[in-house]
Amino acid sequence: MKILLLGQTGQVGFELKRTFAPLGTITAPTRDQLDLLNKEAVQRYLDKHQPALILNAAAYTAVDKAESEPMLATRLNTKLPAQLAEYTAQVGATLLHYSSDYVYPGQGDKPFTEQTTTGPLSAYGKTKLEGDQAITASGCNHYIFRTSWVYSARGHNFMKTMLRLGKDKKELKVVSDQIGAPTPARLIAQVSLLAYTHNIEQGVYHLAPRGETSWQGFARSIFRHTINMGQELTIAPEAVNSIPTKDYPTPARRPLNSRLSLQKLEQALSTQLPDWEDQLFQTLEEYFEYQEQS
Ligand SMILES: NC(=O)c1ccc[n+]([C@@H]2O[C@H](COP(=O)([O-])OP(=O)(O)OC[C@H]3O[C@@H](n4cnc5c(N)ncnc54)[C@H](OP(=O)(O)O)[C@@H]3O)[C@@H](O)[C@H]2O)c1
Repeated sequence: MKILLLGQTGQVGFELKRTFAPLGTITAPTRDQLDLLNKEAVQRYLDKHQPALILNAAAYTAVDKAESEPMLATRLNTKLPAQLAEYTAQVGATLLHYSSDYVYPGQGDKPFTEQTTTGPLSAYGKTKLEGDQAITASGCNHYIFRTSWVYSARGHNFMKTMLRLGKDKKELKVVSDQIGAPTPARLIAQVSLLAYTHNIEQGVYHLAPRGETSWQGFARSIFRHTINMGQELTIAPEAVNSIPTKDYPTPARRPLNSRLSLQKLEQALSTQLPDWEDQLFQTLEEYFEYQEQS
């Protein structure tokens, strides 16, 4: 099978590339080979390669910058998925696409289901939602996985930022009133493969580990596990202090509630997703192994 992977240099893209390798021949252009801002170039690429499966892990993910660059965010997060969906519908291919907890307004303290009324608080969230809507409206074969707080052993993410700061600082302030589930890119790729190969019903699914925490709780767990693994830090987990979102202003508003109900995906796969903290442990192990090798 011909597979087209977009965004292979990103966190999720990197993991998709190795996870989907057994399914076929993967073509994965870098930005130099295919600028996804260029609609005509994307069309030529699709026509030339004729993929039967598209894995779209490319996105404009700079949440704060999207407030001042809405056109770029719209092209990557809305127009590109719409274009991929149009191709997919025309040729009968399948599109796997990734979306965000930021499509929801973030009120309350209950997990959002896939049926919850959306209401993004940011330009990023709006462009992601419009991408989801364009794919759904196209009628193409598709899976849209809405995930949250993505991190991995590679790339730029909160876990790696904390590990850097934890080797230098004695104290940190981290937001404690945004609640969600940190999701390793590797889990996203593994579950995507399961969903695709099990041919589950198409549509929108939440994809995250079980459980919930705050960014402060996530930071403390990163440091606790790291110390338990025998790694040296200057900071103790208890020295990660709490700060409310209102005291940490950012250009983009973020939802306080990022809890995603996993019921639909767990039922479709007849499985229980793993706990976020076990996933963190595994990702840290992978990170330190990777550090030793490089
Ligand atoms: N990160 C999160 O916390 C989070 C949370 C919820 C949902 N998601 C969603 O999950 C998906 C994957 O996110 P991620 O964290 O893996 O993203 P990421 O690490 O930021 O990777 C984004 C990818 O898109 C590519 N890209 C961006 N603009 C491009 C352009 N003009 N031409 C070619 N390639 C371009 C990047 O290429 P370069 O390396 O060349 O820039 C990179 O490979 C996205 O749909 C995102 O919205 C992410």
